[in-house]
Amino acid sequence: MTHLLAPTPEYFIELYSRHGHVAYAGEPVVHLAHAWQCGQLALYAEASPHLQLACWLHDLGHLLGQSGDTPTLAGHNDQHEQVGADLIESLWGPLVAEPVRLHVQAKRYLVKRNPHYLDRLSDDSRRSLALQGGAMSDAECAAFECSPHHKPALLLRVWDEQAKQAGWFARSANAALAQLRLVMSQVPLLSPPRPAMGTEMGSDRVVSVTHLP
Ligand SMILES: [Fe+2]
Ligand SMILES: [Fe+2]
Repeated sequence: MTHLLAPTPEYFIELYSRHGHVAYAGEPVVHLAHAWQCGQLALYAEASPHLQLACWLHDLGHLLGQSGDTPTLAGHNDQHEQVGADLIESLWGPLVAEPVRLHVQAKRYLVKRNPHYLDRLSDDSRRSLALQGGAMSDAECAAFECSPHHKPALLLRVWDEQAKQAGWFARSANAALAQLRLVMSQVPLLSPPRPAMGTEMGSDRVVSVTHLP
């Protein structure tokens, strides 16, 4: 799949329409269910719309590969947080993008600061942690705390780990995507999206999903 240098919100909807049914390898959820659960946890916690949207989209970088599968099983760090954050930033700016960009660093921070946090990580999160550099050093923790976005990133990270629950999902994939559209509508765009030209994902058509409950 190619991806846009200047995506539209509908691009993200279509990304999850096409690839949301793919299993998040090593976890008992598919990608859309993981995104939906993370978004729901942020909603229940009355997070800002910006942070809710960040929770929804935090792992979209995984979906930009053909398989949508997690690469950790192959020992590969796909740097999905950077890929996703760069696309998100062009649309909604740093309040959405930076928690996404920092959600991997937040895991490294929490493992350093809380000795019990590692015990709560899933097998896939532990695999990726090793690939991502393991626990932060004290100097890295201090630098992380200097980011104005580190607190929302930590919240996102906690919900991220909780958003891997088998059997918890919206009534349908299309209902989940409607919720994602609603959250997107609550976060102002930095500028009107440009028309998408010459890319696979350039259509406004949203592919309906039949693979999900
Ligand atoms: Fe992630
Ligand atoms: Fe995640």
